[in-house]
Amino acid sequence: MAGIEVREASAGDESAWRELWDGYCAFYETVVPPEVTAATWRRLLEPGQPMESLVAERGGEVVGFVNYVLHPSTWATAETCYLEDLFVSPAVRGSGAGRALIEAVLERARSAGWDKVYWHTREDNARARALYDSLAKADDFVRYVAGGG
Ligand SMILES: CC(C)(COP(=O)(O)OP(=O)(O)OC[C@H]1O[C@@H](n2cnc3c(N)ncnc32)[C@H](O)[C@@H]1OP(=O)(O)O)[C@@H](O)C(=O)NCCC(=O)NCCS
Repeated sequence: MAGIEVREASAGDESAWRELWDGYCAFYETVVPPEVTAATWRRLLEPGQPMESLVAERGGEVVGFVNYVLHPSTWATAETCYLEDLFVSPAVRGSGAGRALIEAVLERARSAGWDKVYWHTREDNARARALYDSLAKADDFVRYVAGGG
């Protein structure tokens, strides 16, 4: 991960973050309404909101992000972290940005004492799963979704 720096997103990252977000939505073949993207960006930066974005920078350019959400749990007193979105610019993939982003969230979990970090991906997302398999164990839960997009 030489040359990759991970830090909290800040207001000045908005246009780079939005460009990556558009790429992420296209990857998932989904359209997020502009007002939802605007609210998401605002809430990711707002102190006190249980969601945050970290960005990966290389050579002064923002090349990836990870967005995560903290929530309480009935199974632990400490907060649980749901890693919701991870994306690296196609041109930069394979240079360690994805690993650096996810490791930064795991490091935060350790230092803040979060109960656990969990995330989903599509079964056939081989590239993401190669990374995830090196960091955590997939379990045998199946996701059900009612309502929403
Ligand atoms: C998944 C993703 C975030 C990985 O980001 P990245 O910056 O390319 O990842 P890294 O360079 O840190 O590589 C991490 C691992 O991915 C795997 N990998 C990297 N390049 C790969 C390639 N061309 N083909 C297959 N696997 C590859 C390797 O296992 C690598 O392990 P290593 O660190 O031991 O070399 C990125 O490919 C991406 O944005 N994909 C589209 C969006 C997506 O799938 N997001 C996750 C949805 S849950």
